[in-house]
Amino acid sequence: MSLILGLDLGGSSIKAGAVDVKAGCVVGELQAVPTPPGATPPATQEALASLVERFPQCAGYVGLAFPSVIKSGVAYSAANIDKAWIGLDASRLLTTAARRPGFVVNDADAAGVAEMRIGAGRATRGVVMMLTFGTGIGSALFVDGRLWPNSELGHLEIDGREAEQFASARVRTSENLDWPAWCVRVNRVLAGYHALFWPDLFIIGGGVSERWEEFGGALHSPARIVPAVLRQTAGVVGAAFYAAEQMSS
Ligand code: BGC
Repeated sequence: MSLILGLDLGGSSIKAGAVDVKAGCVVGELQAVPTPPGATPPATQEALASLVERFPQCAGYVGLAFPSVIKSGVAYSAANIDKAWIGLDASRLLTTAARRPGFVVNDADAAGVAEMRIGAGRATRGVVMMLTFGTGIGSALFVDGRLWPNSELGHLEIDGREAEQFASARVRTSENLDWPAWCVRVNRVLAGYHALFWPDLFIIGGGVSERWEEFGGALHSPARIVPAVLRQTAGVVGAAFYAAEQMSS
């Protein structure tokens, strides 16, 4: 069994896990370190290096799910991280930190790929939109299982405001919204996305998906809405899938 290390940089922590990419599961415990304040590149590099050291059992390369537009390893946006990432070769930084080949992918795309392959979107054809509600709103769009990368729908304007500025999980906490009040906002976002993309299925992910029972029933759309099933492991698993794919291509 070959284990690939998957890493996932979020607003509060960087998670890591040894992923059996054939079976599609995390083997052993996830490990995490706090995301350095502002997630500056040098501090992030150090944090990544310290996590990699904890997984001597993992094979020769690593994947990282990262909250930015990523094209050929380079970060092109920095909505919730240090602006110094823009234009930086994130894959090279990861490779230096891990001292082995590193591959970087947008965090929502990573989570979406994992959900489509082994989670809530498994074997689903048509248009699927995976949304992650966390510090921002991440999106991953699929047509018959194929990813449209870097869709960045959290920045789409809904009612004159960027969706993630009024309906992310962070905003729910900072504005002290109860579930019904937050769901009114999320429903506006889903309606806006539906009017433009006509998905057949929404998969709702991110940290909040762990509390689906408390709010899932209040979400509505003409499209089907289901919770992500991989919960906090989706980014880690998707990052490992992505790295394995890059190595074999
Ligand atoms: C970023 C995306 C990211 C999402 C979730 C947004 O602010 O622009 O790249 O996927 O947050 O982390």
